[in-house]
Amino acid sequence: MRLSVIGCGYLGAVHAACMAKLGHDVVGIDVDPAKIAGLNEGQAPFFEPGLPELLADSLGTGRLRFSTDMADAAGSAVHFVAVGTPQKRTENGADLTHVYAAVDALLLHLRPGDIVVGKSTVPVGTARDLSLRIADGCPGASLVWNPEFLREGFAVQDTLEPDRLVYGLADPANGAQLILDEVYAQALADVRPRLVMDYETAELVKVSANAFLATKISFINAMAEVCEASGADVSLLADAIGHDVRIGRKFLNAGLGFGGGCLPKDIRAFMARAGELGADQALTFLREVDSINMRRRSRMVDLTREVCGGSLLGQRIAVLGLAFKPNSDDVRDSPALSVAAQLQLQGAAVTACDPEAVPNAARRFPELAYTTSVEEAVQNADAVVVLTEWEQYRTLDPAALGRLVARPAIVDGRNCLEPSVWRDAGWTYRALGRPKAAAVAAAPVAVPATPVAVPAAPAAVPATPV
Ligand code: UDX
Repeated sequence: MRLSVIGCGYLGAVHAACMAKLGHDVVGIDVDPAKIAGLNEGQAPFFEPGLPELLADSLGTGRLRFSTDMADAAGSAVHFVAVGTPQKRTENGADLTHVYAAVDALLLHLRPGDIVVGKSTVPVGTARDLSLRIADGCPGASLVWNPEFLREGFAVQDTLEPDRLVYGLADPANGAQLILDEVYAQALADVRPRLVMDYETAELVKVSANAFLATKISFINAMAEVCEASGADVSLLADAIGHDVRIGRKFLNAGLGFGGGCLPKDIRAFMARAGELGADQALTFLREVDSINMRRRSRMVDLTREVCGGSLLGQRIAVLGLAFKPNSDDVRDSPALSVAAQLQLQGAAVTACDPEAVPNAARRFPELAYTTSVEEAVQNADAVVVLTEWEQYRTLDPAALGRLVARPAIVDGRNCLEPSVWRDAGWTYRALGRPKAAAVAAAPVAVPATPVAVPAAPAAVPATPV
């Protein structure tokens, strides 16, 4: 089938390459000539495992090409809209400029019977509005809302093997879903649920899934705050509650919290939209989710200051990790970059390393010293802080690292290191939500004013000493 994908950012570039992999003839369209030139040469505009291989493969077979000209969308049966919906500059709502511009430009090339498929994350109500625009501009063309749930770092796998497909339709009788079933035939072959619903529900599925994930992370980070206050260990706590299948262990990793191009902006846009709909009270808890998340960053800076003896001034800090999560070069709203920048702004001399994110981080915050080498970053450091849990940082050798630093002190912002391994090697190990090395007494429990009744008879004592 001939397909077009409008927008070749994270979502669109991966989607275009994956659709070509499924055997379709795909043209990816974007307004950025440099991005399109790179993609046509097989260069992914961001780090994503598996994508360069997929691009090379599909460009080689001629099933995939990229263009800046919207006219190249003409002749495709299905047009995916995968442009960005960033947070507005001055408020929390989503900026839909790119979505409307893409659909308006596409309208000039649509034919009756064509299907436009919305994949961007949008506020509820957008799809219905766009469908009217499409019906006006090209009667006979239709719109399906088909949100995307891919995770960075697993984007190729998530697109080729989605755990569910959601179709939001104006009218289940118009046959659009059958054409989309044909597009996804290979993905549906493994009996993945394909859920058909109205536009509004489909739009809400995406934002409510992200809101739930963000809430789960902030829940465990709130528990981390209580663990810090009481001397408990949030990692043990997460393991223990995660055994309950109703809770589950996934997304209960306490630490610096969530960042990236989706969760933070999506929960803010969700709150803003609920406000417009007069349902703001329903989502006030997300404000708390957001503030718990942001508090973790300040706590990480405080903990680092504590490890440095009370002041960051002139301290040499080695930062390990800048990306918002491992296997990504994305620093959009990255908790790691935000903490690294704060440490520097508060007087520390920061040397930051990351296997992939250094160029993006250096563009956003040029004031730090950057390297890709851990050994270089930790040279003579007064403290090492782990801000992104890359596999190569999880498996560092504390003895080898100890020979390079000025003071063996490490702050684990992602709870990704084994405390005893580092402490046994002579390091001061601190983490978010985990106790200090020395056993910390729990804060005293308030004693009720009136004494609790004590049973008159003494507790039974075994007759023979044990
Ligand atoms: C997210 C959703 O998972 C995905 O379904 C949606 O399509 C886009 O947004 P992504 O932004 O790639 O995907 O990252 P995700 O893996 O969800 O992680 C988001 C953030 O949460 C990262 O900063 C990560 O470090 C953090 N996180 C995740 C935690 O702090 N603790 C956890 O237990 C899990």
